[in-house]
Amino acid sequence: MDLNLTDRAYVVTAASQGLGFATAQALVDDGARVLIAARRAEALEAARGSLGDRAIAMSVDLSAPDAGERLRDHATEYLGRVDGVLVNVGGPSPGAALDYTDAEWTAAIDGVLLASVRVMRAFAPVIVDGGSILSVLSTTVREPILGLGASNVLRPGLAMLVKELSIELAPRVRVNGILPGRIATERMATLSQGDPATLAAIEGSIPLRRLGEPEEFGRVAAFLLSPAASYVTGALVPVDGGILHSPW
Ligand SMILES: NC(=O)c1ccc[n+]([C@@H]2O[C@H](COP(=O)([O-])OP(=O)(O)OC[C@H]3O[C@@H](n4cnc5c(N)ncnc54)[C@H](OP(=O)(O)O)[C@@H]3O)[C@@H](O)[C@H]2O)c1
Repeated sequence: MDLNLTDRAYVVTAASQGLGFATAQALVDDGARVLIAARRAEALEAARGSLGDRAIAMSVDLSAPDAGERLRDHATEYLGRVDGVLVNVGGPSPGAALDYTDAEWTAAIDGVLLASVRVMRAFAPVIVDGGSILSVLSTTVREPILGLGASNVLRPGLAMLVKELSIELAPRVRVNGILPGRIATERMATLSQGDPATLAAIEGSIPLRRLGEPEEFGRVAAFLLSPAASYVTGALVPVDGGILHSPW
């Protein structure tokens, strides 16, 4: 792609692997500098090394109340400018909605909802004019996935946060959401427990008849973060092989 990202800098959270890493890779491939963040220092360093010398890394647990501010301070000090942030978090535990204990609900709210809010709150004032925020959501924004109760409940709330911020931060900062369907990451492998029959059933339910590759997600995310998407805000964009059947 030619997204005109030379001299631009992005922050990508939850990015030592999977969707976050694939987005960081697409941004770097197009000339940007990136700050990637995740908890495990060793995996993070391996990811930073494979992205090359336009990447820096910071070990941070997004569940910590000060995570957003610490990340913002690191980004402004070491990147010098922030053109956009991919707000990605670790996925919540699977389960049926009524089976979660209060403690499990609290952990999911902290790890998904509050973690995203904290990153957006910290970065919104420092993103350059014309920059953007992109929130990694899920097709559960529009249709529940049985067995992912916390995602079904929390992602639609974040989608409405995206809509609210796309108005409040306009016209200075664009705010969008991206809705991965079933992308072949470690989380996807964990959720399907490596069971061939489960995987075959999932693939059969996708019009394109296969899981998405992380790179296919990363390219769309990089586009939405970039100035190439300069008239796109408040959008919720599926990258799902057609699994969502509703037009909205
Ligand atoms: N893959 C899909 O098909 C799909 C579909 C819909 C939605 N999603 C959502 O997209 C997000 C990313 O999914 P993925 O498939 O890329 O997952 P993944 O392969 O498991 O990667 C998760 C990344 O998040 C980091 N992370 C987890 N908890 C964190 C925390 N508390 N603080 C900082 N970093 C944290 C992990 O590193 P550390 O463990 O080192 O922190 C890792 O880099 C999740 O929220 C998931 O629910 C994925």
